[in-house]
Amino acid sequence: MSNYEDIFKKVVSHAKEYGYVFQSSDIYDGLAAAYDYGPNGVELKNNIKNYWWKSMVNMHENIVGLDSSIFMHPTTWKASGHIDAFNDPLVDNKDSKKRYRADVLIEDHISKIETKIDKDVLKATKRFGEAFNKEEFLANNGRVLDRQKQIDSINKKMNTYLSSNNLKKVKALIEELDIKCPVSGTNNWTDVRQFNLMFKTQMGATADGSSDLYLRPETAQGIFVNFLNVQKTARMKIPFGIAQIGKAFRNEIIARQFIFRMREFEQMEMQFFVRPGEEMKWYAYWKDFRMKWHNSLSMGEDNYRFHDHENLAHYANAATDIQFKFPFGFKELEGIHSRTDFDLKAHQEYSGKKLQYFDPELGESYVPYVVETSIGLDRMFLTVLSNSFREEELENGESRVVLKIPAVLAPLKAAILPLTKKDGMPEKAREIMKMLQLDFNCQYEEKDSIGKRYRRQDAIGTPFCITVDHQTLEDNTVTLRDRDTMTQERISVKKLHDIIAEKVSVTKHLA
Ligand code: GAP
Repeated sequence: MSNYEDIFKKVVSHAKEYGYVFQSSDIYDGLAAAYDYGPNGVELKNNIKNYWWKSMVNMHENIVGLDSSIFMHPTTWKASGHIDAFNDPLVDNKDSKKRYRADVLIEDHISKIETKIDKDVLKATKRFGEAFNKEEFLANNGRVLDRQKQIDSINKKMNTYLSSNNLKKVKALIEELDIKCPVSGTNNWTDVRQFNLMFKTQMGATADGSSDLYLRPETAQGIFVNFLNVQKTARMKIPFGIAQIGKAFRNEIIARQFIFRMREFEQMEMQFFVRPGEEMKWYAYWKDFRMKWHNSLSMGEDNYRFHDHENLAHYANAATDIQFKFPFGFKELEGIHSRTDFDLKAHQEYSGKKLQYFDPELGESYVPYVVETSIGLDRMFLTVLSNSFREEELENGESRVVLKIPAVLAPLKAAILPLTKKDGMPEKAREIMKMLQLDFNCQYEEKDSIGKRYRRQDAIGTPFCITVDHQTLEDNTVTLRDRDTMTQERISVKKLHDIIAEKVSVTKHLA
């Protein structure tokens, strides 16, 4: 097992042990690609949602929110193109009978070449020490350039074949690259065929009277069909946006890597409606704005990169992914798409209702163009969790596992710990808890030694531990322990609120 796989395994079991994420229906041996969020998980999830909503809705006067239903009129999906084109290329290995997404098999092959480049860089870093210049090395090293050429060529072929729906060539590419099934180890593949990802269900009691419905595969269509409702009632002027957080469902062919690819997941999407012809300006704006949002969390600028789509979705004239360096390589975290007027025009056509905007400045009506930003909440959760997980050797020879979650997102902001269970310390600690708990999610803990309690809070990712000791009862001071540096400072109880607020304030992070 590689080091990365090993770390990822540890992250998954840590998530379970500390109440972040459980397999769905665990007692029935689980349901594939569905997960439940535990007490700390739901707090982290809510904090991510809040961080996104504040930045997208509250900080933009021209963006408003929506919460549309999961069930939609079935014609929605005909109009949006999902019934005809929301497919993934599927391939089976004849020996293991395992099913794969053909494009993911090829992307995994590319990731392996990228890992080799990372190893080349690591080796050279060790060899050249301080004199090492990574950019220069990547631009000039023969072996790296060869590998990069291979990657570019595979990407180009894959995108050409997929966009022309040439599934025979996709299969030929898998064979040419000698990609083997990880289970059987053979390259005995079936033909590649398309598979629609939408879940179908029925509404209504009788078989005759019922109609086929789909669980929405993206939240965006709820925004499109409400375009005029929102524009008129909120009196919005173009350019303006509609934001929504909600569940989406996809019958993913292969759902692996924990909460990275699920069949039921949550999206945070924003559709920004603009004048036709101005979409590229706004596409650039939102690329920049979203990357800044990610970087505001200080999880390492090198861990993000843009990846422009060559194989565009049926609705887009430009698209890019913000990729994050997960333990299993750089993968899509967020999509930014210029969706043209495709969706509004299609809904106009299928519904027979005009979906136009009268632009008072231009004195004309038009169907707006749309730039969307779409991030998976669960993927963002995995980004935070996998990036924060550390195993540290301490100076005293001990080790600790710590989640260095950005304080603004941490599920618990402070743990309040009486040093012992006597001499009035628990009462004083409860008093502090009362003072803080309405503004910050706090935990009171008195069981076990103080050292053990610190380790437990490190493992949960709590930025502050507040310890009440004998001195507290004399001079109203406590020790405040910082999760990352483990330093302890003696401070007045009166200052606690301001110190914590300074570190965890969403406003301060986003300002
Ligand atoms: N409305 C546009 C749209 O849905 P997408 O690229 O298909 O675009 C957007 O999805 C984001 O949703 C992705 O970047 C990813 O973060 C998240 N996402 C997509 N499929 C997912 C899945 N099966 N499990 C978890 N997250 C997923």
